[in-house]
Amino acid sequence: MMSNHYKWIRWIVILLCLTGLILIINETIKAANSKQYENVLKERVPGIQAIALKQGHLHIDAESNKSLNRYVKNVGGSLTIYDTDGQAVYSTRRHPHQLKAPKKLPLYQNSHGAFTIIEPMIQQKKTTGFIKMEGELPRVKGLLIFYVILFIAGILLVLLYDRLVRKFSRSIREAASMAEDLSQGRYQKRASEYIEDSDVSRLNYSLNVLARSLEKIAKSYLTQQDRLKTLIENIGSGLIFIDGNGRISLVNKTYRETFQAPTENWLNQTYQDVIPHSEVTLLITETFKSGTALTKQLKLPIRIERKHFDVSCAPILDQNERLRGIVVVFHDITELKKLEKMRKDFVANVSHELKTPVTSVIGFTETLLDGAMEEPELQDKFLNIILSESKRLQTLISELLELSKIEQEHFEIKWEHVQMTELLDDTIMVLTEKAGEKGITLTDSTKEAGIALGDPQRIRQIMINLITNAISYTSAGGKIQTEIKNMGDGVKLIVSDTGIGIEPNQIPRIFERFYRVDKARSRNLGGTGLGLAIVKHLVEAHGGRIDVASKPGEGTTFEITFKKPIA
Ligand SMILES: Nc1ncnc2c1ncn2[C@@H]1O[C@H](COP(=O)(O)OP(=O)(O)O)[C@@H](O)[C@H]1O
Ligand SMILES: [Mg+2]
Repeated sequence: MMSNHYKWIRWIVILLCLTGLILIINETIKAANSKQYENVLKERVPGIQAIALKQGHLHIDAESNKSLNRYVKNVGGSLTIYDTDGQAVYSTRRHPHQLKAPKKLPLYQNSHGAFTIIEPMIQQKKTTGFIKMEGELPRVKGLLIFYVILFIAGILLVLLYDRLVRKFSRSIREAASMAEDLSQGRYQKRASEYIEDSDVSRLNYSLNVLARSLEKIAKSYLTQQDRLKTLIENIGSGLIFIDGNGRISLVNKTYRETFQAPTENWLNQTYQDVIPHSEVTLLITETFKSGTALTKQLKLPIRIERKHFDVSCAPILDQNERLRGIVVVFHDITELKKLEKMRKDFVANVSHELKTPVTSVIGFTETLLDGAMEEPELQDKFLNIILSESKRLQTLISELLELSKIEQEHFEIKWEHVQMTELLDDTIMVLTEKAGEKGITLTDSTKEAGIALGDPQRIRQIMINLITNAISYTSAGGKIQTEIKNMGDGVKLIVSDTGIGIEPNQIPRIFERFYRVDKARSRNLGGTGLGLAIVKHLVEAHGGRIDVASKPGEGTTFEITFKKPIA
């Protein structure tokens, strides 16, 4: 804002300038006026000379006196004619002075303000006398009004100028402040586009377009950044970004959680100082040296366990292929490794399980061929062994096929309403004889009808496997009890025996393929170690659950809960 002080000085200067301008104009007009008057007076000289000179000499007689009087009366002012000695020979004044050598020639303003002109009368290159004329300068009309108008116009012009400047400067100030806002990232402000001045409104319009574009760009940039941040934080692998100077610039959530590391103060630290695993820092160093991506499978300790990781170091290059940093990715492959181990174990187990009966069949057959056939007792015994081993082989193969079928991804349950009580009755009927042969009583204490949601064939398989196990692992004189029970939202199948029981620490393992608490015993009983693995898969496919309660030497209870159809 202009200060008041400055405003006053400014006005004083403006007034002084205006006054000065008027004075100069006034002087110029005056000069022009007097010049014009001088010419008028000079033009009279030849006329006066014609009257005053007679045959080349100055001679004033009564006639010429009269003529001169008339002339002067006509044109106004006063007239004095001098001879060469400076003596007045004619004058309209009563007491004319002697002509002194005039200082200013031809025109000057005398002490009374009258204008005077003295002109020599020249005849054949000789001065014959002087003419002195005096008169009032004619007034220029309307000069005062002209000056007043000029003055007022000047003031108005200044005021108008002020107004325009103020208007422009306000708009420009507004535009400038908006530009400043834009430069500092505040894109919400808009300048007014509807002002009279088209240039300013065009400027504001452009600023608004710029602001809108910047706002859009900033928004999309933020969204992108947000997305990227979310992606980096929540990606399934641990990530560490290292800049070109080997300092940590980012550690994501997955890394923090997987390695349970205090990464909050890792930022801007050198990677060797903070990353605890020397294998990893070595790999990073190698990547820095080579500038190419490196990947290594590493087994890294985390607290009390060791996990497997696929660690990849990828260089981050700029447009000029210069190394700007490195991104380290930790992909947890512990589960994969576990699966791989399971697969290897499974193949080894299957081979072993298949080899045993086959070896036995071959061995006994060879013995028979070698002469044992001659002894009927031995022949009978060996053939029985060969038969039972072949049956074991058959069971093993069919159970393996069954298991692989259930484990197929597209294995589907044929959902039905299953009459559990009836299904259990049928199953028991088939197995009672087998139990009886071992001297075990098999009783069902179901008191109600239970309907489950599932595949009757598969549920029957579950029942057979559980009851067969109960028969297998219960000694003569023992008891097996089954029951179907309606629970709140499910139907329970209970199979309990008074058999050998299972140690608590063995319970989680009995569902593994080929796992048997007592391998020799299971083998003798014709077990394959696959029965409970099949049960577990089937129950999972039904969306049910298994509970096992057991006491070694006292007995075991398996409880399977199935879903009920929605009423
Ligand atoms: N009712 C039970 N009582 C005691 N042990 C059992 C019972 N059912 C299963 N087991 C134990 O669980 C192991 C795995 O069972 P399963 O998968 O059916 O294999 P198997 O072919 O040996 O029966 C058995 O070898 C046995 O040690
Ligand atoms: Mg079994």
